Amino acid sequence: MSKEIKYDVIIIGAGVAGLYCAKHLPKELSVLVLCKAQPWECNTFYAQGGISIAKGSDDVSLYMQDTLLAGARLNSSDRVSELTRGSLDILDELLESGFEIDRDEEGKLLYTQEGGHTIPRIIHSGGDGTGRNLHTHLIKTLKHTLWKNAEVVDLLIEEDMAYGVCVQTKLGLFNLYADHIVIASGGVGGLFKYHTNAYTISSDMHGIILEHHLALHDMEMLQFHPTVYIDTPHARKYLISEAVRGEGGMIVDENGKRFLFAYDERGELAPRDIVARGIMDYCMREKKSVFLDLSAFSEQTFRQRFPNIYRDLSTCKVRIPEDKIPISPAFHYSMGGILVDDKGKVQGMKNLYAVGECACNGVHGANRLASNSLLEGLVFGKAVANDIISKPLSTPTRHFPLCEEILEKEGDIKLKNILREIMWAKVGIMRTQSGLDSALGGIEVMLESNIGRMLRLRLLVARKIIQAAIERKESLGAHHRLDSNL
Ligand code: SIN
Repeated sequence: MSKEIKYDVIIIGAGVAGLYCAKHLPKELSVLVLCKAQPWECNTFYAQGGISIAKGSDDVSLYMQDTLLAGARLNSSDRVSELTRGSLDILDELLESGFEIDRDEEGKLLYTQEGGHTIPRIIHSGGDGTGRNLHTHLIKTLKHTLWKNAEVVDLLIEEDMAYGVCVQTKLGLFNLYADHIVIASGGVGGLFKYHTNAYTISSDMHGIILEHHLALHDMEMLQFHPTVYIDTPHARKYLISEAVRGEGGMIVDENGKRFLFAYDERGELAPRDIVARGIMDYCMREKKSVFLDLSAFSEQTFRQRFPNIYRDLSTCKVRIPEDKIPISPAFHYSMGGILVDDKGKVQGMKNLYAVGECACNGVHGANRLASNSLLEGLVFGKAVANDIISKPLSTPTRHFPLCEEILEKEGDIKLKNILREIMWAKVGIMRTQSGLDSALGGIEVMLESNIGRMLRLRLLVARKIIQAAIERKESLGAHHRLDSNL
């Protein structure tokens, strides 16, 4: 293999945003998709609920309102308009490309409901297998080259141009060059002790962005999913889709009481920041445990509608519907990310894009509306591809040295786990100045230690999140300051 290859486009990440961007780049372009591990180890694959789609053009404005309200109006209304309107074309494209969407006996599309949506407008595939099916569909129809086990360890940047990436593969370290680079690497789940994310989602690209003095935005806006089964040894905890609540699942305490109506009249179907906070608050105040009650389902209906959740819980010896399932909120999604403009271009850069969860274009504001993330990847992944096609560019040849920093050092794993504990305990659902200050102190100490590059990148991102949380004194959306009235 030649050590210096030049592509038209390199896409970092093989989740929905990266793959849909690749799908819209013509076959004639040389496009390389880089995937850190196996392609399915991405958040897209584990997405359960579905894809939110406006129920015709009449629903666009209500859908916009739901998205803005969930996002505490910190959203960019232009991006929300692009997302909600764009959903109609996306549905057509998915159907045309042969993607199978669940239908009723008469062949009509089935729509489910999740928190914050005024009406059911979420399509799904394979019951709770939407992410898995969409990912498989996009991989099967991919017409460009994909490298797996290819971890990007640096971006090759000079002034406002990105020239390529430095990538670690089983064959060693390489610099790969390209005219356009698209970051679609997902969020920051690996920073937290409890999360629902694929193990590959560890914020490396966010850290690289910081190293190159580019901007991350709204990093304090982190979403915690309310219904997660955390009693498993794996880093990724089992998500129990909000669609389960949309179709009759109830959140109860150990006495069977549905306590969430005291927090919001929408109860279990309030936006997820409100539900997650309600659960945490109730547990702390009442010293009670919280459960998901599935008694509204028969075993057969549940198994048919939510086959993956049924299987995952059954492996943990949970009996459905008779057992009350112990749940906890866990980190799920990052609304903030790499700051991009209205075309998805990284602020200050000519040919570097970011899209999907890793990016912040303002679409989600302070809290993402349920099932807007696969749609985000589809709508904005396509938009980035269109921008690249409309502005052909050839970067001059530049050669960069390979990254010399040691990627991993002995002791990193222990510190990584300490970092995850700190982030969960002090930078989670409820925050205080003293907790954030002490978290920042801990991160600064770790940054001074003898650590490898990949851990250093994580720590840089953690520090940025904490600094952003310290700066925003008032509670807003998913950012909740217990001391905000002091
Ligand atoms: C879920 O199924 O509850 C998760 C969907 C999402 O993250 O929007």
